[in-house]
Amino acid sequence: MTGAAEPGPSGTIPLLRAVGLARTYRGPRTGAVVEALRGVSLTVGRGEFVAVTGPSGAGKSTLLHLFGGLQRPDSGELHLDGDRVDTLGEAAWAVRRRRRIGVVFQTGNLVSNLTVADNVELPALLAGHGARTSRKRRRDLLDRLGLADRAAAAPGALSGGERQRAALARALVNDPDLLLADEPTGSLDSRAARQVLELLAEHHNRGGTIVLVTHDARVAGTADRVISLFDGRITDDARLSDAVPHPVGVAGVIDLGG
Ligand SMILES: Nc1ncnc2c1ncn2[C@@H]1O[C@H](COP(=O)(O)OP(=O)(O)OP(=O)(O)O)[C@@H](O)[C@H]1O
Ligand SMILES: [Mg+2]
Repeated sequence: MTGAAEPGPSGTIPLLRAVGLARTYRGPRTGAVVEALRGVSLTVGRGEFVAVTGPSGAGKSTLLHLFGGLQRPDSGELHLDGDRVDTLGEAAWAVRRRRRIGVVFQTGNLVSNLTVADNVELPALLAGHGARTSRKRRRDLLDRLGLADRAAAAPGALSGGERQRAALARALVNDPDLLLADEPTGSLDSRAARQVLELLAEHHNRGGTIVLVTHDARVAGTADRVISLFDGRITDDARLSDAVPHPVGVAGVIDLGG
């Protein structure tokens, strides 16, 4: 199934294994080189809920983009389920994302000329689910995220927070093994943030693996493990041993009220 699988030290294959990932950008006008990631090594086990935190410009979004195959590293390796994937082309990544990986970008990635409902249903249909199943999943997710009455809207007519939640519904519709979410509560009020965190906790409790980027320490506190990035490097990797079980943790620990 996984061809060139490489067992980890414990004999199990981690869902995600990054080795020395580095990525630079060239500044658009000056041409100056920005080192966004300077050698990040990290292993994420199946079923882990990992929060990645750090100041603006630390490289959080870049790391998530590498994990989802939306960008390629300059050097280093990325393995998913034991397969080396940093060398794959866009078509192979697209198949992997459709079947196994849900991605929520910082800006909320939606197809602008489709309604919210179609944005959420399309990945389910593309993954081979029937029309009825796809519609039911879409309805459930939009209900849960308080977006039922926005189903017929175009993404351009949504607020930033609505767009983020619609992107999360789209990312979750195929129940992905790996959910990559960049600031999914970034522009949400406390009620919407709670809806999002509850949905993430449920996904986690069903066995889903989550890598979540957040600036918010309270959101990071809902994860099992918090990785701190600073200036393109991991500076801390802490397991929250006293993590309150979800979803009690979400309701009890998080009070996102302003
Ligand atoms: N497309 C790009 N072109 C040039 N530089 C970029 C590009 N994308 C990111 N960078 C630079 O790379 C560094 C890391 O950016 P990244 O977006 O990964 O940070 P971040 O931790 O997600 O920040 P934020 O919290 O503000 O979202 C920053 O210095 C940023 O300016
Ligand atoms: Mg970012």
